[in-house]
Amino acid sequence: MDLDLVNRRVLVTGSSSGIGAGVAQEFAAEGALVVVHGRNAERANAVAEGIRAAGGQAAVAVGDLSNNEGAAAVAKAALAAFGGIDILINNAGGGSEIAEDVSFFKMTPEDLVYTYQANTVAAFRLIQALVPEMRERGWGRVINIASAAGITPTSAQPDYGPAKAAMINLSLGLSKSLKMTGVTVNCVSPGLTMTDRITSGMLTTFAQKRGWGDDVQRAKDYFVKGTGQTASRPAEVADIAYACVMLASPRADIINGTNFHVDAGISPAIN
Ligand SMILES: NC(=O)c1ccc[n+]([C@@H]2O[C@H](COP(=O)([O-])OP(=O)(O)OC[C@H]3O[C@@H](n4cnc5c(N)ncnc54)[C@H](OP(=O)(O)O)[C@@H]3O)[C@@H](O)[C@H]2O)c1
Repeated sequence: MDLDLVNRRVLVTGSSSGIGAGVAQEFAAEGALVVVHGRNAERANAVAEGIRAAGGQAAVAVGDLSNNEGAAAVAKAALAAFGGIDILINNAGGGSEIAEDVSFFKMTPEDLVYTYQANTVAAFRLIQALVPEMRERGWGRVINIASAAGITPTSAQPDYGPAKAAMINLSLGLSKSLKMTGVTVNCVSPGLTMTDRITSGMLTTFAQKRGWGDDVQRAKDYFVKGTGQTASRPAEVADIAYACVMLASPRADIINGTNFHVDAGISPAIN
């Protein structure tokens, strides 16, 4: 199927690594003009160079989205790169980077505020900076990368699930605010997704704590079989990327205000 994404201008926040890098690469493979973003300029440039080496077009915007100044600089650089942005993928974020302990009675209020800033408010800042021009042009896309944790909270990370739940709520409200404009707003909510951060970080630590040494595969199997998944494997980065290009395509003009679970069935829901 032709997804009709050639020359559409896309900003993928947090694409200097992990899911965002895969999403950026998939858009470039579809012929889109991609702005790669991260705080780490070296990593962001490496992703952009990889896209160019594969025949795609990519520029770079660098900045911290957890504050207004950083987000304004990112929006400015992204708009300048290809003369506008048609598709905004709000992917940057994750759990608290400042917390020493992510359990309920150890996290501080400041930890929670930071995660909200780096996920929900980061997305809000770029929506305010980039969506008015999409509305004027009569076409655009906002895709917010939330998480299965937004609707299926865990017993830890009281910062993360609520921040992602707020992104899901915000997305539906924004889709209503943009009704009849040609700009759609949807969420993609990944479950466990095999990024470097997950394999060399979370799964490695989990295996070590359980006395399994460096047996990451055993930790992976534990998560697949022991956390309510109904698919037989965890998501790969490409699974999230495919959902994003599909929702961004003009073929998906009619899909609006949804929360796409790309989570191996970990968050079952009737609607
Ligand atoms: N992997 C999973 O299992 C999973 C599951 C559900 C949801 N998600 C969500 O998917 C998204 C990507 O996650 P990932 O696993 O790919 O993580 P990752 O590899 O750690 O990548 C995170 C990206 O976000 C950027 N970033 C983080 N905080 C930022 C900030 N304050 N300002 C600007 N950029 C910031 C990072 O930039 P720099 O490194 O350049 O600083 C990096 O490019 C996140 O929103 C995460 O919550 C992931």
